[in-house]
Amino acid sequence: MEVRERMSDFRNAGLDGLLVGVIKGNEDEVIERFEAAERATIEQVIEEGWVTGESGQLTEVFLGSGAVARRLFLVGMGSGPLLGYQVRDRFADALRALKKKKKLSRLGVDVALDGHETRAMAPFILEGVLLGNYTFSRYKKADDATALETLLFGSLKEDLNAKTIASLTRRETVVRATMTARDLANEPSNHLTPIAFSQRAQTMALESGLDCQIHDEADLDQLGMGLLLGVASGSANSPRVVELIYRSETKDAPSLILIGKGLTFDSGGISLKGSSGMQDMKMDKAGAAAVFAAMEAISELRPKGINVIGLLGLVENMPDGKAQKPGDIRTACNGKTVEIINTDAEGRLVLGDLTAYAVAHLNATWIVDVATLTGAVSVALGDQAAGIIATDDGLAGAVKTVGEQVGERFWRLPAYEEYKEQLKSEVADLKNSGGRQGAAISAGLFIEAFVEDTPWAHVDIAGVAWSDQNKGIRNKGASGFATATLALLPEYLMRKS
Ligand code: BES
Ligand code: MN
Ligand code: ZN
Repeated sequence: MEVRERMSDFRNAGLDGLLVGVIKGNEDEVIERFEAAERATIEQVIEEGWVTGESGQLTEVFLGSGAVARRLFLVGMGSGPLLGYQVRDRFADALRALKKKKKLSRLGVDVALDGHETRAMAPFILEGVLLGNYTFSRYKKADDATALETLLFGSLKEDLNAKTIASLTRRETVVRATMTARDLANEPSNHLTPIAFSQRAQTMALESGLDCQIHDEADLDQLGMGLLLGVASGSANSPRVVELIYRSETKDAPSLILIGKGLTFDSGGISLKGSSGMQDMKMDKAGAAAVFAAMEAISELRPKGINVIGLLGLVENMPDGKAQKPGDIRTACNGKTVEIINTDAEGRLVLGDLTAYAVAHLNATWIVDVATLTGAVSVALGDQAAGIIATDDGLAGAVKTVGEQVGERFWRLPAYEEYKEQLKSEVADLKNSGGRQGAAISAGLFIEAFVEDTPWAHVDIAGVAWSDQNKGIRNKGASGFATATLALLPEYLMRKS
């Protein structure tokens, strides 16, 4: 898929099709974008009531050769004024329908919406189009592949100014990262083992100029990561921890550490999950996928005055004769002991060790971890927002604000001291499960036990990382959620400090 963003001249672009958004009640304004010869047909279609701007409506108008495009697609937006989130979803739904059309290879997308500021809306339109067009088709025969080869973003309404073009280019980088994260999280566990994932990281780092360090099992043993290794102990697939390093040119720059939960499969281990829906647990690496993809984007965006290190905890959680068992006591790399109550509460074990490692070895200024950590967060927030547990108001606020800018919603949950009672063990420093009540919070606070006084925010994406339906920018499967926010967080932190 080739994307071009600077097409101010759609007329000579050789388009097969052109997609234009129609605000309800503004049908007539759309006509003004076209030349006299094209108007007659469009006017007629509108007069006959085919185009009302109703949300979700998609009308095809045949303009014929000689026109700006042979086929015009008018997509209903609903009544204005609209939010970026809504515009994005309408365009995504339109693309999902268009990609099935035959002979539609070059599609122009008009990024101007009547009554809306183009600079604000254009990036959301680009995002909707790219994500609506996304499919994970690596393991499918090519015969039902889309004909779409080139997407061109521009406008018949106005010449795009430099700022709009720059914001489109930036958003394309970020959306591509989101698609990379989707690809990784969608990969089945037999293909994307911890070793395979680490090799992809190495290749990406080489191509994007990041430094990359891979810790194998022997290294992890040396480092004393008993919690992470406990989770890995039941699996035939050896764990890996990957460090992806973006170094700024500034001396003594602050360091943001991004930690991603990368369970390439979570069967639950000895505390085995039920079989219904277990296939979706290949996505338990969505946090690591988001960090991987955000690091790639960061290598392109090159934020100034800040180092960013991505830490991926790549592990498979399986039952086995060698697997850890409820009642076992394990020691983290900072010496803390943990009583294993439930082997299915494995994410916090992996993240606990990585967080302690970041504190001890990486000179962390800020730590943000991202994880599909608890079913409880989706009970609390559903599929519309990720949960934040944080010790630092500024950092939590930064994640939330950047999220709003790119259309990802985060909502902070309380992290009161008293919840920590739930993690007290009779026999160890901590236990790994605090029961059902407030489980998203106690899970976060388990990780907090490893951060010491580094500003920290934990993002639980278990409710938003995966979708069971095709709707708006979500396709069935992985969403890539949090990638966009992580990619732009370094710049935001620097602007604020
Ligand atoms: N990976 C799961 C959480 C999850 C659930 C992610 C659903 C995505 C969708 C996590 O490792 C887990 O199993 N959590 C348990 C914890 C419990 C055993 C304390 C949960 O939330 O039920
Ligand atoms: Mn689990
Ligand atoms: Zn898990």
